[in-house]
Amino acid sequence: MIKGTVAELLNSDKILQEVHVKGWVRTFRSNRFIALNDGSTIHNIQCVVDFENMNESTLKKIATGAAISVTGTLVESQGKGQKVEIQVTKLEVLGESNPEEYPIQPKRHSLEFLRENAHLRIRTNTFSSVMRVRSALSFAVHKYFTENGFYNFHAPIITGSDAEGAGEMFHVSTFDPKNVPTNENGEVDYSKDFFGKETNLTVSGQLEAETYAMALGKVYTFGPTFRAENSNTTRHLAEFWMIEPEVAFNDLDANMDLGEDFIKSVIKDVLTNCKDDIEFLENRLLQEEKSKPQIERSEMALIEKLNFVIDNNFKRVSYTEAIDILRNSKPNKKKKFQFPINEWGADLQSEHERFLVEKHFKCPVILFDYPANIKAFYMRLNEDGKTVRAMDILFPGIGEIVGGSQREERLDVLKDKIDALGIDEKELWWYLDTRKFGTAVHSGFGLGFERLVQFVTGMGNIRDVIPYPRTPQNAEF
Ligand code: 4AD
Ligand code: MG
Repeated sequence: MIKGTVAELLNSDKILQEVHVKGWVRTFRSNRFIALNDGSTIHNIQCVVDFENMNESTLKKIATGAAISVTGTLVESQGKGQKVEIQVTKLEVLGESNPEEYPIQPKRHSLEFLRENAHLRIRTNTFSSVMRVRSALSFAVHKYFTENGFYNFHAPIITGSDAEGAGEMFHVSTFDPKNVPTNENGEVDYSKDFFGKETNLTVSGQLEAETYAMALGKVYTFGPTFRAENSNTTRHLAEFWMIEPEVAFNDLDANMDLGEDFIKSVIKDVLTNCKDDIEFLENRLLQEEKSKPQIERSEMALIEKLNFVIDNNFKRVSYTEAIDILRNSKPNKKKKFQFPINEWGADLQSEHERFLVEKHFKCPVILFDYPANIKAFYMRLNEDGKTVRAMDILFPGIGEIVGGSQREERLDVLKDKIDALGIDEKELWWYLDTRKFGTAVHSGFGLGFERLVQFVTGMGNIRDVIPYPRTPQNAEF
């Protein structure tokens, strides 16, 4: 007897042999045809039961969502869309699923409804496809870096530093909330806490990754990061996974090359390895597009869009050039930008980023050399004294997918910057040590993993590409 997954059996040529498989019923038609899925593929295997010879009570228990074990003969299928099916000889219901109560019925559910049932939505075609692609992308990330001589570095999750200096942190404390010790000024006295100082969940592993790059050469982190920003958008999560490579001796150009090559490579990888899921997701989008007005429909189907990114150079544009373009542009004939760009130095809003990528250049864009005062303290100051060697990679439909930079490697310049921003040097003594002892040019970036998964799967809302999204007022599961 051959025991296999649905994926293995569907691709097998073991016709007329006895096979065994376990999974969950997707549909049961005419008391005869079970569509069985076990998570191994988007496709179901059809199991044909001989209902006249099956006991009534078992038959009654075969319902959408039930877990079953099937033994039978693999035969060529007469039906459309499948090569093989199982002629069932033995069927056992392992776990029933009451159709009156089970929320995931074989019909199209709205994404909003499924979000409220995050523990069950993975049983739908859409979510199982998205999460298989997510898993494959995660593997492709590790594969890319391993094959290119990087070491995987595990950054701490609990940390005393605020890498981005943006202050959007979740505080970590072992205090009993009902009994928080305070000092004579009424401030929380963290010296009595487990860590003896104020700590938070990491917003980025970058600063720690820099210390490792300055010894191991090429490192990357890939872990959860946390931002307590109160953003209710389709692009922000409070808990998201970030991929952060950091490379000694790389300048900004090398950093851009790495970012572009990395993204192309992992997309290529999943296009090959998740073909069925991506085809399914493309069809899903095509259905969705039909209900939209022509003007809002995407010009390219999903697979074409992914191949376009792989096959074309990303456009590299300085911030200054971008500002000139934006000053002289309107998003369309009637409308101005909601935040018009009047002067050099303004931070770009997502409407500007999307205009550059989707309307002006019509390809992924790498913006570099941003004004120093809108970027983080650790970025390398350019000779003009007012821009830094920052780079953001902007993607169609997504906006910013990568943020990175060449780092300020000169101790005196870095110290001046830290002082000017009012950051306590003592807090960063360990970071400054990398500049004191054997400092060197180095660069890195952070890529928001969920934004990449969004791009590859075409999902419109970031909450639908992570198993249990953490957003404001959302941590039920
Ligand atoms: O641009 P960010 O804030 O850069 C950093 O944290 C650097 N320390 C990274 C580095 O150089 N090592 O974040 C990097 C990326 C963004 O481009 C975006 O893709 C993603 O992380 N990101 C988010 N994704 C989902 N939800 C959020 N709230 C995000 N904030 C940033
Ligand atoms: Mg950024």
